[in-house]
Amino acid sequence: MTKDNTQDTTKSAGANALWGGRFSAGPSQLMEDVNASIHFDRRFFAQDIAGSMAHCSMLVAVGIITTDDGDAILEGLQTIQTEIAGGQLNVDPKLEDIHMHVETRLQELVGDVAGRLHTARSRNDQVATDFRLWIRGQIDDLDAGLKALQTALVDKADAHANTVMPGFTHLQVAQPVTFGHHMLAYFEMIERDRGRFQDCRTRLNESPLGSAALAGTSFPIDRIMTADALGFDRPTANSLDAVSDRDFVVEFLSAASLAAIHLSRLADEIVLWSSAQFGFIRLSDQYSTGSSIMPQKRNPDAAELCRAKVGRIIGAQNGLMMVLKGLPLAYSKDMQEDKELTFDAADTLSLCVAVMTGMIADMNVNTKAMAAAASAGHATATDLADWLVRALDIPFREAHHMTGRLVREADAQNCGLKDLALEIFIAVDGRISEEVYSVLSVENSVRSRNSLGGTSPDRVRVAVQSARTRLDKD
Ligand code: ARG
Repeated sequence: MTKDNTQDTTKSAGANALWGGRFSAGPSQLMEDVNASIHFDRRFFAQDIAGSMAHCSMLVAVGIITTDDGDAILEGLQTIQTEIAGGQLNVDPKLEDIHMHVETRLQELVGDVAGRLHTARSRNDQVATDFRLWIRGQIDDLDAGLKALQTALVDKADAHANTVMPGFTHLQVAQPVTFGHHMLAYFEMIERDRGRFQDCRTRLNESPLGSAALAGTSFPIDRIMTADALGFDRPTANSLDAVSDRDFVVEFLSAASLAAIHLSRLADEIVLWSSAQFGFIRLSDQYSTGSSIMPQKRNPDAAELCRAKVGRIIGAQNGLMMVLKGLPLAYSKDMQEDKELTFDAADTLSLCVAVMTGMIADMNVNTKAMAAAASAGHATATDLADWLVRALDIPFREAHHMTGRLVREADAQNCGLKDLALEIFIAVDGRISEEVYSVLSVENSVRSRNSLGGTSPDRVRVAVQSARTRLDKD
């Protein structure tokens, strides 16, 4: 076995690398294992081929290669695109990465002319270009997914502009809010997430192609032409920066982390709301799982997983920042470690966004349970204090104190504020009249919170319209 390995590795090492014969079988096999990225960077094939096509056309346009050679190369690249898209790629770790696989296949298809494609470029500017294109595509896909999630949230908000639920601070009942308002809170978070992804997209949309290995090239290339062909806004300004910059990946992962954090907060609320103790929502069968031992269970596994997967995404961002920290200019192989974690983070986020969209769209809202919970816990205590301020011109601090005494009394009687007899109110302040009861209902409470951005059903309906308008615009 050792003998076979030795022969194999020596032959292959000699065939494709400078460091060939002096290595023995073991280490060179390990070298190949640690070095090869084809298992994951094959995901770049479409971007890599698009970049090669743009580069080839430019080489022809400026007269670095002939039209005939260019045509042959472009045709070959087109064939490779079709092959790989159809699942045909002969993976050979000795060829290290997607760039070498495409070039090697091109050589097989069109012969030695393939070698002209690599004029005035390097894998360093190639991979930087591929990655920018790939992330740009991911951002566009994610944007569509996030928009679908926003639509699901707005639809729920629309249907539940009137639905009263307890609003919490410290997870203690605070004031009544409408469920529609709560849904729209997440709409706003997602809106900012989309904005952050767009910011990242705007900044990343520069073409590194033509920076070559690190210093640029002595060939008279046209970087504006390749930038245009690939949909970039302009070429990058500094070749050293262009091949060693992965800020765009960090920014992408950072936007992804925050989006995932938002999803995890919503996921956690779904877990709480769907518990028997809350009973605010019932997840559809499609988004619930059963227990193998407890027949009564409907578990919110999808929400729990969305809550947990944020860890992988933040981990990816931290991981990449650790890779980049202290890395000298320009390209170092360390930077190959930028991909797997980014792919995983992007896949994870897309999945969570889709799952969350489905869960929100399908969930059943128990308006009765929400209203009952909103009435419990003295959620209208602030309304009472506000009423004392308004009706009796009492300073808020004092009104707060008086309300506290009434809450204590209600607790003692094991009832809500609205169930207290008028005498009890009068005992606290003789000026209190029947009118006080009007502010103690949760419906009136939410209706009164009509300030801009507030929770009243009217405000929520306006917010729903404005949200829909924003969604229609982009
Ligand atoms: N596979 C490499 C990466 O992902 C491509 C760049 C290789 N460049 C080099 N000089 N070895 O980073």
